Amino acid sequence: LDKMGGINEQTFIAVKPDGVQRGLIGPIISRFENRGFKLVAIKMVVASKEHLEKHYSDLSDKPFFGGLVSYMASGAICAMVWEGRDVVKTGRAILGATKPSESSPGTIRGDYCIDVGRNVCHGSDAVESAQKEIALWFDKSEITSWKSAQQSWIY
Ligand code: TYD
Repeated sequence: LDKMGGINEQTFIAVKPDGVQRGLIGPIISRFENRGFKLVAIKMVVASKEHLEKHYSDLSDKPFFGGLVSYMASGAICAMVWEGRDVVKTGRAILGATKPSESSPGTIRGDYCIDVGRNVCHGSDAVESAQKEIALWFDKSEITSWKSAQQSWIY
């Protein structure tokens, strides 16, 4: 439980290689911080194709799978764990729809991209997949636990 009695969750959020190269790490982090979520782990990774094939194993039969894995392996990714109330669902709302043409303005994808194959960011789609993805990308020792010193009635 969080300090206001809500259910605390963690989600895996990543800035994909195009987002990193376009200088979007800062704006993406800002949107999560501004909303009230807590960054508990972060690192830059150049992921192997094997690692990415595990990450996207549910999509292995899709026609875009090979291109997706190559794109994700093409450069550094900013991998993060964000924590807070309903962060899995709200995180997906902050990202916007998978297809940029269906992402509303005000979302990351709705503000920063037009190509589904270069859609800037990743976010876990369910609590269960979030747990799997966090375990795939981070060692337990890399995930911090910290509290704000601000007064308890501010979320
Ligand atoms: P998916 O897990 O369906 O979406 P999301 O990232 O929103 O959870 O797909 C994973 C990624 O695969 C998606 O972010 C972009 C890429 N992709 C394509 O390149 N073409 C497509 O038609 C789809 C559906 C996804």
